[in-house]
Amino acid sequence: MFAPDYPILTDRLLLRPIALSDAEAMLVYKSDAENVRYVPYGPLTLDDVEERITTRWAGTRFEKQDDAVCLAVEERESGRLVGDVVLFWRSENDREGEVGYILDPAFAGRGYAAEAVGALLALGFGGLGLHRIAARIDERNTASVRVVERLGFRREARLVESSWFKGEWTTLLIYALLEHEWRSSIIEK
Ligand SMILES: CC(C)(COP(=O)(O)OP(=O)(O)OC[C@H]1O[C@@H](n2cnc3c(N)ncnc32)[C@H](O)[C@@H]1OP(=O)(O)O)[C@@H](O)C(=O)NCCC(=O)NCCS
Repeated sequence: MFAPDYPILTDRLLLRPIALSDAEAMLVYKSDAENVRYVPYGPLTLDDVEERITTRWAGTRFEKQDDAVCLAVEERESGRLVGDVVLFWRSENDREGEVGYILDPAFAGRGYAAEAVGALLALGFGGLGLHRIAARIDERNTASVRVVERLGFRREARLVESSWFKGEWTTLLIYALLEHEWRSSIIEK
């Protein structure tokens, strides 16, 4: 079992459990068809967002494989919600996790996604004791590819038309980072 302490602070951001009061701000970026094009849901309505906040996005600690911790990302300076991130515990045996992330487009282009996912890596490797953290990205999602490459993830595979996603065949890129690679990268910094 691993229960992180909240809030989690980075230089510019604060990560904390998602609350029902986040629903309106989340709706702005989760109802936008272009913004959710490569994420496995949406576009969502306010009812959808509220329902998910109380169910699948309510996880704040890891008790067993398949648990997910979903966190709201706030800009510390303004207190505004800029997006949300998720860490899935994919396998207890393989000590494997997977990250997901989405920003409000109004807050893109500032390095917030990489900063928030960096905090998730510390949670996964440092807290939960994971060995490998992966990211699965539609190859057309170049902004997302840049986020994980900036964090030192290795591109491990290109799965051609492997996924029937939102009405079309999708080519997935598999990226991953190992615990020792992450530790070396933070020592380098
Ligand atoms: C994927 C997504 C989170 C990336 O957002 P992003 O703002 O491009 O990523 P970051 O927050 O890491 O910001 C990086 C950009 O900020 C710039 N930047 C500006 N100031 C910066 C700073 N102080 N520090 C770091 N980067 C900074 C970087 O140069 C970089 O720009 P570039 O990608 O053009 O080189 C965003 O496009 C999104 O929410 N997409 C929709 C949801 C989605 O597809 N999620 C991923 C599913 S796999």
